[in-house]
Amino acid sequence: MDPKFWLDKWSSNQIGFHENKVHNLLIACWHSLGGEVSDKVFVPLCGKSLDLLWLRERHNSVVGVELSEIAATSFFEEQGLNFTKTNRGEYSIFSNDGIQIFCGDIFKIPSTQFGYFDLVYDRASLVALSPSDRLRYQKLLDNITRKKSRILLITVDYNPKLISPPPHILSDIHLQKIYASNWKITAIDSQEADIKGTTGQENCYRIEKK
Ligand SMILES: C[S@@+](CC[C@H](N)C(=O)[O-])C[C@H]1O[C@@H](n2cnc3c(N)ncnc32)[C@H](O)[C@@H]1O
Repeated sequence: MDPKFWLDKWSSNQIGFHENKVHNLLIACWHSLGGEVSDKVFVPLCGKSLDLLWLRERHNSVVGVELSEIAATSFFEEQGLNFTKTNRGEYSIFSNDGIQIFCGDIFKIPSTQFGYFDLVYDRASLVALSPSDRLRYQKLLDNITRKKSRILLITVDYNPKLISPPPHILSDIHLQKIYASNWKITAIDSQEADIKGTTGQENCYRIEKK
């Protein structure tokens, strides 16, 4: 999807995907990854999600990636957190103690800059990407994780006659195509959810690198 689509959403404050609370499936299911305080957590396409703070309360290092500087600065300002900004050419890094947001296109930031992660939290990230970007997203996660790293993934399902993507519907078959070669996928929870004003479903998965 054209980055301009998302940058325009942020500049016009059309951010219906943002939740003013920590996501309930994160609270309910994160423990199923069995993480440690010392585990490094990656949050791709993080927006200004409050989930970053919840994760930071449980882990020493949380790294988000987000296209929009409005999202990154709003996150820190709205949470009353000071931050520093370091410019790195095509991207910037916004940091506060234990939380870093890499601001730029996730596919343009060299993956070596991220380091390695034990845990990944993906809510409204994979489903926000165009289907044609799914495999390169999976490859990126492959590059920055180790054997036994785990992902908590939340996908959406809805009646496609009622609304159009994003978010994209991601069925079990799609998920198998994306992750099955290197990762073990386990469905752990699902719930009814409001998706752009219609009743749909959120599905939550634990995905472990083989
Ligand atoms: C649907 S929102 C979800 C945000 C967040 N995960 C949440 O739960 O609120 C998707 C976010 O991904 C960002 N985004 C889209 N494409 C991106 C890309 N290629 N690189 C980095 N961020 C991107 C958008 O700016 C937007 O904030």
